[in-house]
Amino acid sequence: MIKLVVGNWKMNGRADENKLLLGAISGQLERSAADVEAAVCIPFPYLAQAEAVLDTSRISWGIQDVSAQLNGAFTGEVSAMMAADFGCTYAIVGHSERRKNHCETSTLIAQKSRRAIEHGLVPIICIGESREQREAGATERVVFRQVQDVFDLLSLDEARRTVIAYEPVWAIGTGKTARPQEAQEVHEHIRELLISRDSSLCNVKLLYGGSVKSENAADLFEQPDIDGALVGGASLDPDEFVRICRAASTTREETDAKV
Ligand code: PGA
Repeated sequence: MIKLVVGNWKMNGRADENKLLLGAISGQLERSAADVEAAVCIPFPYLAQAEAVLDTSRISWGIQDVSAQLNGAFTGEVSAMMAADFGCTYAIVGHSERRKNHCETSTLIAQKSRRAIEHGLVPIICIGESREQREAGATERVVFRQVQDVFDLLSLDEARRTVIAYEPVWAIGTGKTARPQEAQEVHEHIRELLISRDSSLCNVKLLYGGSVKSENAADLFEQPDIDGALVGGASLDPDEFVRICRAASTTREETDAKV
């Protein structure tokens, strides 16, 4: 499976900085990691900027959230249709920061996923356990519930068009990453869960997220069920982001030597 590395800029960046960051990433990725799909999910106001800079590059772009509604009286929301107008490929949904700060439920996350798919976007559905849940040995139960609750509301065809990002909440922005083997175990069980729903779901990409950096990326990507990464903080540094993309490449040594 081709690996997918997605930057999640969160609420960071201004027009001038974005220009430099997008330019640097696209320039460096022209020459390396050709077998990796790279994408950046940026704040809404800069979608036109991303489209202008990245249109002729091989980097995709997307949004960090999407409305569950089609259009109408929903002040402050941005629809999937609007994002599609700016060439977005991806929409992150159900990020733990949204689950926590905006009380997002699985039902809402499923509706958002469906809207995204309807308008040709790929939802990146985030799941993950808290530190307390991990310490209580409830990781698997929690992430299984999160997957089931969303997938129960999607058709099989919709489910096939999603990406799942496993992001342990205790690893997000903390500098603490799950050990590659720990992450692999969760990914393997999520994959089994998906296959038990329908064998065609074996192709749903499973990204890992939570303090991914160039130092730990290669070990994570070596795991058989880690199909890529959702990268927060490190995606704001173009060299770091590109190094992570390169770590996902199967021709890593060769490209490292050249670039
Ligand atoms: P982080 O964020 O890489 O800064 O931990 C990941 C995310 O929240 O998607």
